[in-house]
Amino acid sequence: MVDSIEFDLIICGSGLAGLRAAIEAARKNSKIKIGIVSKLQVMRSHSVSAEGGTAAVLFEDEGDTIESHIYDTVKGSDFLADQDVAERLCNEMPKQVYQLDHWGMPWSRRKDGRIDQRAFGGYSFPRATYASDKVGFFEMQTLYDTCQKYENIEYLNEWFATSIIHDGKRFMGITAIELSSGTFYAIKGKALIIATGGAGRLYSFSTYALSSTPDGLDMAFRAGMALKDMEFVQFHPTGILPSGILITEGARGEGGYLLNNRGERFMKNYAAGKMELAPRDIVSRSIMTEINEGRGFKHETGVDCMKLDLRHLGDEKIKEKLGGIREISIKFSGVDPAEEIMDIRPVCHYMMGGIHTDIDGATELQGVWAAGEAACNSTHGSNRLGANSTSECIVWGKITGELAVDYIEKGVPQDPWPHHLVAAEEKRIYDGIFRGNGDANPYEIRQELTDTMNEKAYVFRNEADLVDGLKKIRQLKEQTWKHVDDKAKEYNTNFTNVMELDSMLRTAEVVLIGAINRKESRGAHARTDYAKRDDANFLHHTLAYYDPKEPIMKTHPVTITKYQPVERKY
Ligand code: FUM
Repeated sequence: MVDSIEFDLIICGSGLAGLRAAIEAARKNSKIKIGIVSKLQVMRSHSVSAEGGTAAVLFEDEGDTIESHIYDTVKGSDFLADQDVAERLCNEMPKQVYQLDHWGMPWSRRKDGRIDQRAFGGYSFPRATYASDKVGFFEMQTLYDTCQKYENIEYLNEWFATSIIHDGKRFMGITAIELSSGTFYAIKGKALIIATGGAGRLYSFSTYALSSTPDGLDMAFRAGMALKDMEFVQFHPTGILPSGILITEGARGEGGYLLNNRGERFMKNYAAGKMELAPRDIVSRSIMTEINEGRGFKHETGVDCMKLDLRHLGDEKIKEKLGGIREISIKFSGVDPAEEIMDIRPVCHYMMGGIHTDIDGATELQGVWAAGEAACNSTHGSNRLGANSTSECIVWGKITGELAVDYIEKGVPQDPWPHHLVAAEEKRIYDGIFRGNGDANPYEIRQELTDTMNEKAYVFRNEADLVDGLKKIRQLKEQTWKHVDDKAKEYNTNFTNVMELDSMLRTAEVVLIGAINRKESRGAHARTDYAKRDDANFLHHTLAYYDPKEPIMKTHPVTITKYQPVERKY
């Protein structure tokens, strides 16, 4: 018999959305048992890497408005955002910034003591609330500290969740492996919040932590929930070479320049009104156009790149406002941005897609919510504005934590526990993967997968590349990589790597099929063979449902409340 434990509310993922959900649930009801299940230690969650800002309207007295934040978000999304959802984000955020402040968040401040904000891409007003350039680290620290006040939150750190257990209609629990012992558990629960973050490690050139694989997305997908808008992958303009580590948009927000090999601030030719602070999709395309037309540079590794110049900002400002990226640049590229120009290129940074939810973060399975980057509640449509992601985590962490408690308090029927489903999952993992056989090296398959995504589904896409990419992913999937050569029970990273690969192959397929089907250019999805946005045929979301043969693709309407789509000009 499989060992089992029990919570009322299970939260998968210990980043910003997961912790914010836990706090809200715990403070709403101190009697419910909350378990945060994470494959990492809490402070190793990828949210700690967020750098530049959290978007909110704080300075209405100086002319900023909620309406303007909503419109910027919708326009930035290339009109694929659900407008009611964008409204909810922008209305809720100012309160959340002050709530974090009250919990001890060390926001950077103006001389008069008010919380400061900096400029970010695509906004009409400086709206990115910041703490130097370590926003995610300080937000995580603040939330984790706050979590400590609640005795009903328990941490299952370094537990790898494998599947959702349900009866076809309602959530019942999950299965997970405790990595320190290698023991397989059933975790019973009444409600689940999936907050496992994005899956940007589908790409080899990526700002994400190596842990950012689609385990959580795939768990939902296999349980029958749709993945939505997965073709929209954000490429941040400034990943530093050679590693791809993020150089925050705050660097341009503070006045940094992008330069081509003629020494020109080339953004004047693409978005003269916003220059380096156009939305990310536009800046990334502009960089790649400059490179493709011969106005780029070669990095010493042979990779094409562009230059980011911060030297004119001066030592003082760089130290105070961009100290983190200065350290990153010196340590990982040997370049001090106060003295030298940085080599950058667009890098996989965010997935607009995720688990399909409604405006409340509710998924299609009763008792399951999703929040943060793992979710697609359609706040960001086809292109997210910088600083709206940490905001989304905080807002929907709070909302889903609250709603999950309401659901539990109403009383969830306790049906007999489906031991057969847990046994089937144990068999899938241990017979199908752990004790599997085969010649293909899963690490090589993983590398080939991520390289394929980089080559075939990058900033500019076309039918031939995408079809080729899909063919390649399917070939990789067919190979005999489902085996674990290290038979150790404790901390078996060989095992977790193969488990991650299993989810990566299925999710990559969904990204590529979505991208092939969307024969238009919208936001981050830029097709050279369909260069225009096509509202007549594609003003809809993409849904993908799991099927063992291949995903079943459907569409879903976009909610438009006030703003009819128009051409985006910056
Ligand atoms: O550039 C940045 O600091 C990234 C922020 C974001 O993705 O929201």
